[in-house]
Amino acid sequence: MNFYKEELNNFIQTRPQSRELWHKSIKRIPGGVSHNIRNLGLPSIGGFPVFIKSGHDAYLMDVDDHEYIDYWQGHYSMLLGHNHPDVYQTIIDKLKHGWHFGTVTTEQVELADTLVNDNPSIEEVRFSSSGTEATMYATRLARAFTGRSLIAKARMGWHGYADTLLYNVKAPFLGKEGPGILPEDKAGIISFDVNNEAVEEFIKEKANQLAGVIIEPVLGGGGGFPVKLEFLKMLREITEKLNILLIFDEIITGYRFSYGLFQNELKVIPDLTTMGKIVGGGLSIGVVGGREEIMEQANPQSKYRVWTGGGTFSAHPLSMAAGLKTLEILKKSNRDYDRTNQNGTTFMTKMNTFFTERELGFVATGFKSFLTLHVLKKYIENLNPNEIVQLTDKKREALLQLALLNRHISGMHGIGALSFVHSSKHIQETQEVIEEISPPISKTDL
Ligand SMILES: Cc1ncc(COP(=O)(O)O)c(C=O)c1O
Repeated sequence: MNFYKEELNNFIQTRPQSRELWHKSIKRIPGGVSHNIRNLGLPSIGGFPVFIKSGHDAYLMDVDDHEYIDYWQGHYSMLLGHNHPDVYQTIIDKLKHGWHFGTVTTEQVELADTLVNDNPSIEEVRFSSSGTEATMYATRLARAFTGRSLIAKARMGWHGYADTLLYNVKAPFLGKEGPGILPEDKAGIISFDVNNEAVEEFIKEKANQLAGVIIEPVLGGGGGFPVKLEFLKMLREITEKLNILLIFDEIITGYRFSYGLFQNELKVIPDLTTMGKIVGGGLSIGVVGGREEIMEQANPQSKYRVWTGGGTFSAHPLSMAAGLKTLEILKKSNRDYDRTNQNGTTFMTKMNTFFTERELGFVATGFKSFLTLHVLKKYIENLNPNEIVQLTDKKREALLQLALLNRHISGMHGIGALSFVHSSKHIQETQEVIEEISPPISKTDL
């Protein structure tokens, strides 16, 4: 039996509960999931995702009682690890008094105050329930503020599921991510390649129609590629000169590499910023924030009344409380940030050295604690991001996730992210597993 078949058989035989739940799930929920990536591509190779019943620290437990080192960490939102005792206690204390009122609450003011105090570019914020909404509102605010209609987004930039920005995220870059979405020229979107000098001219040409440029300082869902500092600085200079708003989507990078937004470290300050994930402490959240004159358009008392935020669950008391507690802990966590960042960098270097020495079609990308592992159709040295995503072997990527699960490691996009709860021992163990499974994954018939 070849490697693939052995792995699949082993996986299926040892997970009867997950298998049964999966069969039920696909009858009731299209594709069995409520976020496409959560199937890890496993159905394409005859597998299924594992159903998780609990988590603590760096670990997840599935319904068949397999324990995994988890690098997905709730879509990168659990920087303190699963079930952190202080965040847990905060949520429990709040729950005792009821959990949803649809009113203003103390925690909402406190979290807003913290985000404003921590970050020079943030003078006001609006909360929503998800990052998807936050990016949608950011572009709306930009259009309203400038009176222009076009938004430029980075190719490979992921800003959530809303119609607004669902363009050119994944190769082969067809100008929209699928049926049901207007083509980008009809939706007021144009796309550009990051780290490309020609973008400056492109922005100048479109300047009188361009309301905003939105970009993640590290491209996340699109492949885990850091954007060069010079490119971000160029965007800042040109947009400022032409009165175009610069929007940083910091839904992943915010509070991930150090306490506060990544822009503070980069010293590139946008007009608007979106946040999510970590700042909600693992509960639903989206935040759009920025300069007062732009944000005040959202004020219902103002003449503008740009519809921003809102919705039944926006600024949910539990999210506000969990977010506040998380930030309170993170503020005192410089040593954990440094250790986790360093571990991520070392891990990525070691993986890439291994792949290069053996000429394996794998490449690890990312930045500090944020790690993506790509499986490619063949080994080629020194690929750029665009080449990496074009060369991706989807089925082998699914097999990587399956083989990792068989060895009690749960990842997404290959690995995912390190959190404060990941020790050098976890990383060493994971490194050894990757060294064991990457050669057969490259070679096996699939
Ligand atoms: C950079 C970025 N922007 C926006 C989003 C959308 O956020 P949400 O999934 O909370 O809607 C995500 C989610 O993965 C993200 O990574």
